Amino acid sequence: MIGIFDSGIGGLTVVKGVMDALPGYDIVYFGDTARTPYGTKSSRTVVEYALEDTEFLVKNGAKIIVMACNTASSVATEAVRAAFDVPVYEVITPAVDRCLEATKKGIIGVIGTRATINSGIYERKILEKKPDARVHCAPCPLLVPLVEEGWRNKPETRMIVKKYLHPLKVRQIDTLILGCTHYPVLKDVIARKIGKRVAIIDSSTATAESIRQFAADNPQLDASFSKTDTARFFVSDITPHFQETAKSIIGRNIVLEHSGPFDLK
Ligand code: DGL
Repeated sequence: MIGIFDSGIGGLTVVKGVMDALPGYDIVYFGDTARTPYGTKSSRTVVEYALEDTEFLVKNGAKIIVMACNTASSVATEAVRAAFDVPVYEVITPAVDRCLEATKKGIIGVIGTRATINSGIYERKILEKKPDARVHCAPCPLLVPLVEEGWRNKPETRMIVKKYLHPLKVRQIDTLILGCTHYPVLKDVIARKIGKRVAIIDSSTATAESIRQFAADNPQLDASFSKTDTARFFVSDITPHFQETAKSIIGRNIVLEHSGPFDLK
């Protein structure tokens, strides 16, 4: 089974990408809706949560872990890799690789939560591979609540997106990384505001594609993944609102099951 976790429901954008890239592969998802958001918390807390989330997925049969959450990927990857014996995927590297293929001028914008942007991870990873790149980062803390509120195409959302993207636009970026689970939901608004000439890199599809490649390159691991077209979605808290948001992201009704690392202790 492919184990995917996020701070909440937003990671379903990655689930959707994985379902498209690897149809029929079994998925176990954990969304930490009881402790969301992670993007406003300290690294120490996010690391602790990410370790617990991973343990929960491994206990539920995950043979590979995908940290769909950009914030957890930014600050907890090393700790999770050190603590578990399964391959651990994060969403930053695939997005950076795709971005470097797409950029022509090497002027790159990155948007994400405060924790992700403050970690400096995107900038570091881009500059490691392309030292002459110019990277401009902008935290966009209001976008997660707007997506969760279902305000995808409201005038207020368009106005806030425009304001957040303005500093990146004036720097004439040619590529923009959506460094947060929730931002693919706003891709159309973002694309309109940043302009047609800017390539938009969606970390959910970039990650799904690199997992597909990894499975193709590692037949033994691939054989260990069950493929009965089943997906289970665990969340640490359930409300009708989470159910609605989940439906709007994945595009159909899914059953959320109430469970989590805390129940297992
Ligand atoms: N999942 C988080 C991320 O991708 C966004 C929501 C949160 O702050 O927890 O960074």
